[in-house]
This record gives sequence, C-alpha cells and structure tokens, in this order.
Amino acid sequence: METKPMLTKECEFQKLQEYYNRVGKKLNIYELFAKDCGRFDNFSQVLKTPQDGNILIDFSKNRIDQECFQLLIDLARKRKVEDARDAMFKGSKINFTENRAVLHTALRTRDNSIIEVDGKNVMPDVKAVLDHMKQFSNKVLSGEWKGYSGKKITDVVNIGIGGSDLGPLMVTEALKPFSKGLNMHFVSNIDGTHLAEVLKKVNPETVLFIIASKTFTTQETCTNAKSAKEWFLGTAKANEAVAKHFVALSTNKEKVSEFGIDTANMFGFWDWVGGRYSLWSAIGLSICLSIGYENFEKLLEGGFYMDNHFRTAPLEKNVRTFLLYTVKILKLIWGEPGTNGQHAFYQLIHQGTRIIPCDFIAPAESHNPISSGVHHKLLLANFLAQTEALMKGKSAGQAREELQKSGMSNEDVEKILPHKVFVGNRPTNSIVVKKVTPFTLGALIAMYEMKIFTQGIIWDINSFDQWGVELGKALAKAIEPELEGDSPVYSHDGSTNGLINFIKASRAM
Ligand code: F6P
Repeated sequence: METKPMLTKECEFQKLQEYYNRVGKKLNIYELFAKDCGRFDNFSQVLKTPQDGNILIDFSKNRIDQECFQLLIDLARKRKVEDARDAMFKGSKINFTENRAVLHTALRTRDNSIIEVDGKNVMPDVKAVLDHMKQFSNKVLSGEWKGYSGKKITDVVNIGIGGSDLGPLMVTEALKPFSKGLNMHFVSNIDGTHLAEVLKKVNPETVLFIIASKTFTTQETCTNAKSAKEWFLGTAKANEAVAKHFVALSTNKEKVSEFGIDTANMFGFWDWVGGRYSLWSAIGLSICLSIGYENFEKLLEGGFYMDNHFRTAPLEKNVRTFLLYTVKILKLIWGEPGTNGQHAFYQLIHQGTRIIPCDFIAPAESHNPISSGVHHKLLLANFLAQTEALMKGKSAGQAREELQKSGMSNEDVEKILPHKVFVGNRPTNSIVVKKVTPFTLGALIAMYEMKIFTQGIIWDINSFDQWGVELGKALAKAIEPELEGDSPVYSHDGSTNGLINFIKASRAM
C-alpha cells in the first residue's frame, strides 16, 4: 500500500478547513433551503434499480453548499479513492496489515467475471459453495433433510459471534416477512444464559445447529458449540446423530473435523472474506434457511447492483460519497428501529453538546399495513418530523412565546427557556426505499460497506483489520485459569486483582 501524507497535510484538506472557517461553520441548513428552491434536487439522488423500486438518497439536510461539495470531491480524488476501489475489486491485498485481499464483493458477483487472488480465479469455488448452500437449504426447508429420529427440522440455532452472528441476525430480522417458516435463533454471548435460554425453546430431535466461525478457534463460539453438542447428545445419545444436527461454516477444515462435524456438512469460505463482511458467504446459511435460497440470491443481487454503482458512477454521482459529508473522524455507529430511539437517545441528538449526524432509512410501503395502514403512516410521519425538527430546531423567541402563551410567569419563563431552545442545524441523511426486500436490503448493506471503505481510504484507516480486539482475547485466555480455586491473585494491577479476588470470595460464600 502506498504511504499517503497525513490527511491534514493535504492541500485539499487545508482548502476544506479554510472553507469551513470562512463559510462552512456559519451555514444554516434551514436557511439554505429558503435561499435555494433547487436544493433538494441538487443534493439528492434517485438510484434506478432493476427490481423492487428505486432508492432515494437525500443528503440535502447537511451543512453543505456547492463549494463544499466540490471541495469534498477534490479531497476524495486526492486521496485516490477511485484507485483504492479498483484495487479492492481486482483482488489486490489492500488489507495490508494482514496481507489479505478484500473480496467479499466476489461473493455477490452475479455475472461471469473472473476474479483472481494470487493468480487463481476464485469464482468457481464461490459458485460451488453457493450450490452447496442451495441444495442444503432446499432439503431442510422441504423436509427432505430429517433429524436422527426421522422428524423434520423446525428450529435453527446459529452459534457464532461478531461477523459470524450480527450480519445474519440483522438480515433475518429485517426480512422476517420473507420467512419460510423455520424458527431462527442466534446464540453469540459466552454468558451461559444466552445458550441456556435458547435450548429451552428447541427440541433435540428437530433442531439444526449451525456453528459459524471463520477461524473455528473463537472462544465463545467453540464453548457454546461444545455445550450445545453435550446438550444434544444428552438426548440423542449416539455420536452418529451429530451429522444430522450440526453443520459448520468455516475456513478451517481441520478444526471442524476435530470438533466432530463431518466435513461433508461444512460450508467453506476464504481468508479474503473479512469477518465483518461475511454475511454474503457461507456465513449466510442461516439467511438461506430463513428466507430461502432464491431470496438469498436476491440479497446478493442487491449487493452486486450497489457494487456496480460504486465502481462506475463518477464521484459526483456516487451515493457512498454523499454519505461521507456529515461524518467526523469517528467510526461509531448505533441505531434503533422505528420510533424506539426517539424515546431513548434522540434527546442527546436534539440537545446534546456534540453534533451527531444521523441517517434515517424508511420504506414507503410496509409489509404489514395493519389497521388500514395507520401504523405505517405514523411511522413515516415521525421519520419526517424528526429530520425536520433536527434541522429547524426552536429559537428562543419561539420558545418564549409558547411559554408565555401557556400562562407561565415571566420569572419562570426565563428559568425554563434555555431548556426549551433547540439550536437545530443538525445534519441528517434520509434514505427511502419502496419496500424492504432482499434486493433493497442487499443494496443498502453494500452501500454502507462502501461508505466505511471510502472513509477508511480518505482518513488512512485500514477498515479491514481488527488488531484492537485481539489484545482483550489474549488477556482473557490468561485470566481464565486464575479464576480456578480460592487462592488470591496478585499478578495484575490493583483493580484487576481486586475484582478477581472479590469474585472468588463471593463465589466461595
Ligand atoms: O474478534 C473479531 C472477530 O474476529 C470478527 O471479525 C469475527 O467476525 C468474529 O471475531 C468471530 O470470529 P470467527 O468467525 O473466526 O469465530
């Protein structure tokens, strides 16, 4: 990877900084709309998709104008976003800290492209695993695949963590209206309660465990898988029964076999699939079982559609670039479905001292238009109201008038007033799809993946390694044996020793 100058040393960045000091910090989004009736058209884009309706990306409620927009594009060009993108798609080892290619995009490639890693076309292997997933999920869903006592599978338990859990969990949850009828469960946490509570709901004769682990060495997954197998054998008794109820998704054949899973029931993938980008790979088997293989393919098609947009649209028309505008160098993203967040953390977004840029994603149509669509109408009204409120805020004048009208004394008005003022000018992006479908969801996930990638290139952060999580894992391995027995521990800092010794003493009581 070519070494880049620090972002802040780039002339394009300095121009942006200079622009911010001169103009940007004074921009008020609401006033910008009042001055420019074409603002929405200029700062939004409709993506024409081949299926399930178009996608609108509205980034007009941001603190930007044409000058800022151009400066950001110039910066992206200077940081060679397009070169990095091309390098990623052609299989260069852009994850340089692990010397790996980043090719989750190959997993959703739906044409006959040849994609090579170290001179080998990976597409035949990708297709072979997809075929295996198709056959297997069709057999389970049709009832042809039977448990050890001859009964059909009714429940699926995916045991995995991180990327081997979160992606499939989110997708199966979002696409519940497409469910083919199996009950889906996800166990990730090492806290025994997670597995124990799921096991209460399933029957050893009709459950299928998917052990999802790229490395097949992850402590949480291996421990949960071992306990699930013990629980299963407690009823099934015979080891041969395991083959009917346990499958593995992994890159590590040896460990899968060591665990006792027949490698014929293993669905492979490769080191060029990052854990956090793996739902498109064999890790998506739980998705296939939930919504059926045909719908899983549509998810891949959505991702492929967005990849092509990302590869071919000029920066000025590229939606992943638009999503960049609001973010600071902060990669923390959180959210909530529907109006739930409104009753929790939105207070922080409206009146907190930090600006928190938000994305709102809404479907124009609901899968469940119950009570003549009133729920969905309210949901949409709240989505629109929030983005408007975050932009407009409420001035001291407006707030004072409201308080005075309520009959409050002048003294009380002045006391309450600062709490009733909303500065507004808070940036949001709005993304509207016709309906949440496998295709649109695939497209949205790929769009966010590409956004992270683009941010990483501009800021010079490797979006694909994960050394930060390794240290904690190593320390946990060292502490585990120290939790045995009653003798006090002195090998750590004062706080860690104190915590370990308190736990040991509490347990002994
Ligand atoms: O610790 C982070 C991580 O390595 C993720 O990238 C990965 O998805 C998760 O742990 C689980 O790893 P594995 O799939 O190898 O069990």
